[in-house]
Amino acid sequence: MKRTLPERIREYTEHREYRKDTIGRSGSEIFCFSDMVLKAEREKNESRSEHEMLRWLQGRLPVPEIICAEKNGDMRYLLMTKVRGKMLCDEQYLSNPRLLVHLLAEGLKMLWTVDINGCPFKRHLDYKLEQASLRVAGGLEFDEDPDTYGREEFESPEELLLWLKEHRPEEETVFSHGDYCLPNLFAEDNTISGFIDLGRAGTADIWQDIALCVRSLEYNTGKNEGCVNLLFEELGMAPDWDKIRYYILLDELF
Ligand SMILES: Nc1ncnc2c1ncn2[C@@H]1O[C@H](COP(=O)(O)OP(=O)(O)O)[C@@H](O)[C@H]1O
Ligand SMILES: [Mg+2]
Repeated sequence: MKRTLPERIREYTEHREYRKDTIGRSGSEIFCFSDMVLKAEREKNESRSEHEMLRWLQGRLPVPEIICAEKNGDMRYLLMTKVRGKMLCDEQYLSNPRLLVHLLAEGLKMLWTVDINGCPFKRHLDYKLEQASLRVAGGLEFDEDPDTYGREEFESPEELLLWLKEHRPEEETVFSHGDYCLPNLFAEDNTISGFIDLGRAGTADIWQDIALCVRSLEYNTGKNEGCVNLLFEELGMAPDWDKIRYYILLDELF
């Protein structure tokens, strides 16, 4: 990888040992150093927003600090500090569902306390559905994964998109992570130590993150109903299953 790296990134990483990470699922390449992480990915809306979002979130939430962000041809490189602690999908948390759920609820509440004044991105349904339309028009297909939500009810992504446009729920604006799942959250000493993967963050409906949180929690705990109930107890809210389902279905188009 080193040959193709932009000069400034190379200055920081040359002669340093690293391990290649395989957790990312978005086509990004991740190189972990002892105290830094390099995320390299093809230029797209989300990588551009991620750099800007990280800048805006400094001092607002625990997020990595940017060491160096560079663009080179059609590639974007983000060299950032390594977040302390372990991902919430680490065995340490999976084996302690009570703590895991507590941390997930804590993370959501932290997001909701961010003052959205001046937030650089809006990720409301107007924007998401427009993006989804572009993706569907571009030939997006349902994932191969047999767990794909909506596969049984909707013949095609076009049909799902139409349904989503016709069933828009009312939105309650908060600061949203946008891809709130266990591998994108870190904790240390029983508290959230960092949020990463912020390319889809911005203002959005409160149920966007809750829905993906529920999906990720179910996926990682084998659909443990107790965990989901506990999550809503911790949040002090009742689950709105229509909205949860809506946002999980919407995510099938991303
Ligand atoms: N700043 C960071 N500190 C520690 N680990 C990180 C950091 N950035 C990324 N990682 C690791 O790399 C994985 C993938 O990075 P992420 O930004 O989530 O990319 P993707 O969009 O591919 O999911 C994360 O789940 C995490 O394990
Ligand atoms: Mg991620």
